[in-house]
Amino acid sequence: MEKFYITTPIYYPSGKFHIGTAYTEVLADFIKKYKKMQGYDTFLLTGTDEHGQKIEDKAKDSSMEPKEYVDIQAEIAKKLWKCMEIDYDKFIRTTDEYHEKAVQKIFEKFLSQGDIYKGEYEGWYCKPCESYFTETQLVDGKCPDCGRDVVKMKEEAYFFNMKKYADRLIKYYEENPSFIQPDFRKNEMINNFIKPGLEDLCVTRTSFSWGIKVLSDPKHVIYVWLDALTNYLTALGYTSDNEEMLKKYWPADLQIVGKDIARFHLIYWPIFLMALDLPLPRTILVHNWITMKDGKMSKSKGNVIYPEQLIEKYGLDATKYFLLKQVPVATDGIFTPEEFIDRYNYDLCNDLSNLLNRTVSMVNKYFEGEVPSYNGTINEADEDLENSAKETIEKFEKYMEKYEVANAIQAIWSFISRTNKYIDETSPWSLAKEIEGEETKEKEERIEKLKSVIYHLVASLKQIAIMIRPFMENTSKNMLRQLGIEEEVNWSSLNDYKNIENIKVIEKGEPIFMRLDREEEIEYIKDLMKK
Ligand code: ME8
Ligand code: MG
Repeated sequence: MEKFYITTPIYYPSGKFHIGTAYTEVLADFIKKYKKMQGYDTFLLTGTDEHGQKIEDKAKDSSMEPKEYVDIQAEIAKKLWKCMEIDYDKFIRTTDEYHEKAVQKIFEKFLSQGDIYKGEYEGWYCKPCESYFTETQLVDGKCPDCGRDVVKMKEEAYFFNMKKYADRLIKYYEENPSFIQPDFRKNEMINNFIKPGLEDLCVTRTSFSWGIKVLSDPKHVIYVWLDALTNYLTALGYTSDNEEMLKKYWPADLQIVGKDIARFHLIYWPIFLMALDLPLPRTILVHNWITMKDGKMSKSKGNVIYPEQLIEKYGLDATKYFLLKQVPVATDGIFTPEEFIDRYNYDLCNDLSNLLNRTVSMVNKYFEGEVPSYNGTINEADEDLENSAKETIEKFEKYMEKYEVANAIQAIWSFISRTNKYIDETSPWSLAKEIEGEETKEKEERIEKLKSVIYHLVASLKQIAIMIRPFMENTSKNMLRQLGIEEEVNWSSLNDYKNIENIKVIEKGEPIFMRLDREEEIEYIKDLMKK
């Protein structure tokens, strides 16, 4: 079985994650489940990034020891992923002993190779971002990443010799066009950071103590990004006495990161890997953000939405559908209560739920619940629908190859619309009508046509249910249950559109999504945002 190793960033564990932060994980989980259905031996890694001054400060604010604080915070993260049914295979915490030991070994290796050297650091530091900047990198004297105030700091420190690897990195980008997705991020890195001259990176701190100590010089704490980035390796046992997992899964097939941390993953991370003489990941996918109408989500603006709030009221599947559909990955997606409710009412209720309901009720009404068998294409529209079904799979797979998930999902919804249109085109209710004075042969033909329509509707719904499985698992199962399809499905079940023999649908269809009162629900979500 071919392996597929996916990573998400390890999260800063401080407080609840809003829907934006949850997006990275939802995206990764979708791709993992899709790959798993395709038969890959998948491994999804996530975790928490627990060291650094920011966490030390937060713990202090809560009058706790840092470890005590992160223990609580890591549980909050795990609880959210459970609530969102995220199917991760390993949860790494950077305070795990095996990780700390491995980071120390990595640091010593860099030191002994001469990739790390001792010097003195003076620069502008942004605490929330845990990043140093040079004077020229600042934007209006503020942090170029988050726009907040920076402070001047000076300390004895170790540096990683990034300059040495700059040319090799650019060459790697050029020779491996699928390394960075979407493509424009590559030029952004080259033009904004590498061409102007890559600075050596300060990789230790002495101004605080909450971090992994340098083995050979313990008054220094290892910079949180060097600590954090290597989690993708240490989680697989790198430098431990058992590297089986590493051998099996490395290099990563897909590493997903938000745009704010692209620089760390597209520049420093590959350089660390080169220095360790390890292969680079196949693809690093940089996704854009979920923003609000008035810009970034933030507590101070009073525009934050938490995933639990949406899940509790509208369900997990609707929440995931919205997040994945709304961010086109290469550009930002905007959350508005209006859009959320409209997508729910139109896409999920009108388009999907009603299609299932109409179909189930027609199978019951015309064929006593038993899906009729099919004897070859009869209606003109049949062939067109069958072609569209096939094209939908091709389109979906093609988009997923480039990780254009919103487009991939849109392809399914186009097919849902196509199937709804098929009902209008074939109008089964008139096919079911007895015609006065009708000849036997004409009647037989009419019934055959009706059978074909019902058959095609069920076949299409089965395909839809399978295709939404990786991101709307509960809805998918519910649909198949209502259709009376009990077999285990995976991606190859899609090859067989016409395999729905001896199926009996449930007697009374249950709506999977109920129409919401638009104004009422918009108000409800607006209130959530103020909380
Ligand atoms: O950056 N929309 O962790 P983190 C979409 N610990 N994605 C968003 C978002 C939004 N509005 N806000 C945040 C860290 N994210 C480091 C990573 S990896 C070695 C260390 C995403 O908790 C963000 O882009 O701040 C990132 O992918 C993830 O949430 C975690 O961010
Ligand atoms: Mg962040």
